[in-house]
Amino acid sequence: MRCVTTTVLCTLALPEPAPSLLSARAELVVLGRIPSPEELRSRLAEGVDVLCPQLRDRIDAALLDSAGPRLRAVCNYAVGFDNIDVPACTERGVIATNTPGVLTGATADCAMGLILATARRLCEGDHEMRAGHYKGWEPEYLLGLDLGGATLGIVGFGRIGQALAQRALAFEMTVLYADEQDPPVAEALRGRVEKVDFDTIVERADVISLHTPLTPSTRHLVDEAVLRRMKSTAVLVNTSRGPVIDEQALVRALREGWIAGAGLDVYEGEPEMAPGLAGCRNAVLAPHLGSATVKTRAAMAELCARNAVAALDGQMPPTALNPDAWSGGTPPPLPGRS
Ligand code: DGY
Repeated sequence: MRCVTTTVLCTLALPEPAPSLLSARAELVVLGRIPSPEELRSRLAEGVDVLCPQLRDRIDAALLDSAGPRLRAVCNYAVGFDNIDVPACTERGVIATNTPGVLTGATADCAMGLILATARRLCEGDHEMRAGHYKGWEPEYLLGLDLGGATLGIVGFGRIGQALAQRALAFEMTVLYADEQDPPVAEALRGRVEKVDFDTIVERADVISLHTPLTPSTRHLVDEAVLRRMKSTAVLVNTSRGPVIDEQALVRALREGWIAGAGLDVYEGEPEMAPGLAGCRNAVLAPHLGSATVKTRAAMAELCARNAVAALDGQMPPTALNPDAWSGGTPPPLPGRS
């Protein structure tokens, strides 16, 4: 019987413990860059058992077809999986996985940081200091929004939205949330947060924070019409996915004062920004740092690797997105693998 080396392909290098866990079970190949779709297709055609992409890699039907039946799993190094065509994976018997749970606190912290920085105009102040514009304390210099008593509208009330609610309650904010999926609400939040519809959030919130996945129905959820209906004193924060906001409309909203400010961690054409956004002083702009802590990225790496190893062992990965991809729960053993 011909022996084929079991191969795991990572596009970018993942932090430990992923390299140790993966190389203990398979040959680990790391490209160390984001490949073009053509390059990734031809690399998969050479034979890969598990692919570990990250959110900048597009995993679509054509790519999966180039991998052929040898590919067992696509283990995303991210909780968001809008870069993966999950139904196409299911049709081809490929398990898709993500990294939920382990980045909840870090991302909620980042959202809270953007809320504080934007509401209290901390980056405008930072710029004033560095530019030598600060001439001394004045009664009405760079006034912002008090968070205590302000209303926070959380759009998408999954793990991260609920973790943000906990933080906002500690700041004495009133918390509203909207989520069409009607997720279970954590015990600690029951009776302390109010479920409303999206339009109510748009009209009532002083701060809106987006925590919804990117799907066809959430693309441009915050468009020109929504931005025009928000309070002119309101702040918009996005740590989910850039295309949930129409970024060109947001630039006009920030320039023309339809809203007071925006705190963004994600962008529609990431890593590019919409023309004019960089010049908006009332925008706090972070380069997709939501999960960027040492501990969180290591936890994501561990979960990603555990998903991959489980798939190689013929076991259902801990955070499979499409368990139905393997009828009967486990894939048939692949013969002749080292
Ligand atoms: C995710 O995991 O989806 C974040 O955007 C990056 O950590």
